[in-house]
Amino acid sequence: MSEQDLTGRAVVVTGAGGGIGRAVVEHLLGRGADVLAADLPGAGLSAVQDELEAAVVLEADVTSLDDWGRVARAAEAAFGRLDGLVNNAGIEGAIAPIVEYPSEMVDRVLDINVKGVLYGMQVLQPVIAADGGGSIVNVSSVAGLGGARNLSVYSASKHAVIGLTRSAAIEFAADGVRVNAVCPSPIQTRMMRSLEDAMKSDELDAASIEAMLSQSIPVGRYGEPNEVADLIGFLLSSASVFLTGAAIPIDGGLTARS
Ligand SMILES: NC(=O)c1ccc[n+]([C@@H]2O[C@H](COP(=O)([O-])OP(=O)(O)OC[C@H]3O[C@@H](n4cnc5c(N)ncnc54)[C@H](O)[C@@H]3O)[C@@H](O)[C@H]2O)c1
Repeated sequence: MSEQDLTGRAVVVTGAGGGIGRAVVEHLLGRGADVLAADLPGAGLSAVQDELEAAVVLEADVTSLDDWGRVARAAEAAFGRLDGLVNNAGIEGAIAPIVEYPSEMVDRVLDINVKGVLYGMQVLQPVIAADGGGSIVNVSSVAGLGGARNLSVYSASKHAVIGLTRSAAIEFAADGVRVNAVCPSPIQTRMMRSLEDAMKSDELDAASIEAMLSQSIPVGRYGEPNEVADLIGFLLSSASVFLTGAAIPIDGGLTARS
């Protein structure tokens, strides 16, 4: 059996109806894992249910501790154990300069992107630890490694995800629970379409913005959701047993530039 095989491992994935989340669910099922796919109502879970039949789907809001309790109970009921968590749910929030950033959106971004990740670890880490240990992957961003114009609160939230990841790695190591963050560059999902739309002008259409952003990436293109899923699968597997507390760019070389 390959070290990257996940047969017999049960994993919760949040934001599972979205671009990266769905690719993660598909990848993990392909490696033999049992997967509980969680997302908001109406956010793509019915397509996951129809097209990835092996996944157990559950409507849950990551900002609700009650919903995290339901996730824990549903995973135990469906699989009898829990070995992994992918805290993938996230929003970009407003695309605006700091001085104009709408205050109501600050709380929304921090609630989903930061508290959502914290709550997931608070509720599910004890379950994973009690089941013999496992692996948690938090989805940050290259915007968690450096600043991002007009995305200040998103960038702050993704820096916070790395802080939570590192602290959790230290706290959870004794329980055999590893915690790592992945930091993608632009990936071909709804989120990039939304950012391109917000950056559009009379001179630049969405396709020109993608071309411009791609030029700043050494490999010359956005990433694909399945490429992020491959890394997450590796971090959930026993191929990465000595890897914890890391924030790993998956960015076509974007952050390799000084
Ligand atoms: N696409 C990119 O370029 C990119 C780059 C770096 C990091 N990321 C991160 O990857 C993750 C996935 O993003 P994506 O690109 O697949 O975007 P997406 O919009 O396709 O998916 C995000 C998913 O999160 C879900 N979600 C939002 N709020 C939620 C809540 N309160 N509770 C539960 N689920 C909620 C949405 O319903 C959606 O299905 C996010 O954390 C994002 O910040 C994306």
